[in-house]
Amino acid sequence: MKFFLDTANLDEIREGASLGLADGVTTNPTLISKEGGVDFKQHIAAICEIVQGPVSAEVTSLDTEGMVREGREYAKIASNVVVKCPLTREGLKATGILDGEGIKVNVTLCFSAAQAILAAKAGASFISPFLGRLDDIGENGLVLLSDIIEIYSNYGWKTEVLAASLRNPIHVIEAARLGADIATMPFKVIDQLFNHPLTDKGQAQFLADWHKSGHQ
Ligand code: G3P
Repeated sequence: MKFFLDTANLDEIREGASLGLADGVTTNPTLISKEGGVDFKQHIAAICEIVQGPVSAEVTSLDTEGMVREGREYAKIASNVVVKCPLTREGLKATGILDGEGIKVNVTLCFSAAQAILAAKAGASFISPFLGRLDDIGENGLVLLSDIIEIYSNYGWKTEVLAASLRNPIHVIEAARLGADIATMPFKVIDQLFNHPLTDKGQAQFLADWHKSGHQ
């Protein structure tokens, strides 16, 4: 399973890359806005200099024409830019057009298996089911992820399953168990994956014993 960082923060992306855990990056307008008044294209370019894998840049137009226009511009920023389009009729039309031009598209805001089928049919390179946001409304995001992986396995579609809106290590572990192609997560979740109190306690004990026996 590839690890993508779900952030637009350059420090976090540098740190993720140094850990070998930045196979790609997903951004969205909310994440970009958290970085202050950055120039969008310059910021995406800066991310693409750190990370060699796919970097998602999301369109903000609502109509197909506008999305295609934005997508074509974003694709020029760097060869690893992936255009992120919303799972709307207009977004899927734009996905088909951009895909036809050789521009990779990550279809975002997917909340049902039916939507995931439509995205694959449209030519998406990635489908992003939002697990955490389904959990937030009392549904089970992991069931959706499982459904999509099962359905996609019946066909030779090129669309990779990118588990998104991951909020905790259980989401990551279960995404891996189900065989998701990619898990994108905030840096906070990367930290959580590393942490275990028994590791800290064990390390402290080893060092205490080492020093107690006169070693430096
Ligand atoms: O990148 C999109 C997705 O991962 C958003 O996550 O936590 O805002 O639901 P979240």
